[in-house]
Amino acid sequence: MIHKILHIGDPRLHLIADSVIEFDTPPLHTLIQDMFDTMHAADGVGLAAPQIGINLRIIVFGFEQNPRYPEQHGIPYTVLINPELNFINTEQEEGWEGCLSVPGKRGNVTRYKQLKYRGQDVKGSWFERDVIGFHARVVQHECDHLNGILYPTRITDPEDLIVLPQAFPDSQMEN
Ligand code: NI
Repeated sequence: MIHKILHIGDPRLHLIADSVIEFDTPPLHTLIQDMFDTMHAADGVGLAAPQIGINLRIIVFGFEQNPRYPEQHGIPYTVLINPELNFINTEQEEGWEGCLSVPGKRGNVTRYKQLKYRGQDVKGSWFERDVIGFHARVVQHECDHLNGILYPTRITDPEDLIVLPQAFPDSQMEN
């Protein structure tokens, strides 16, 4: 089932999400399917449960080809519950990212380039991955949602937050 995605300004996007303690339950399976359905319907590459008003530490992400990020290589479809991030080194990089809760905008956000993440799958089994680049960026972005953080709060220079031209198809935004 496709859910409504909450938009910036909704106080439910700014809560600290609760850990998941029960796994492999019918409601958890349904929630995760709904998150993928909602993400796909919006052409997203990731979604966090708080974005559909569920205050739990669950994120889903992944894509093969995505129209919103045509230049990016794919990321395997992943369910990550109660995630933990470990930054392997201090190297950071800038990159443009969007958010389904911040429609029509992109921001140039500084993130760690490389990280190790670990978390639980739908059955509660722990797994971990070492990732780099856009995969690392997506996981950092989605984990921010679990701590009530939207990417615009990570931007200090106003020029690093832009309005996408297609958000105003009848205007002259490109000029
Ligand atoms: Ni987002």
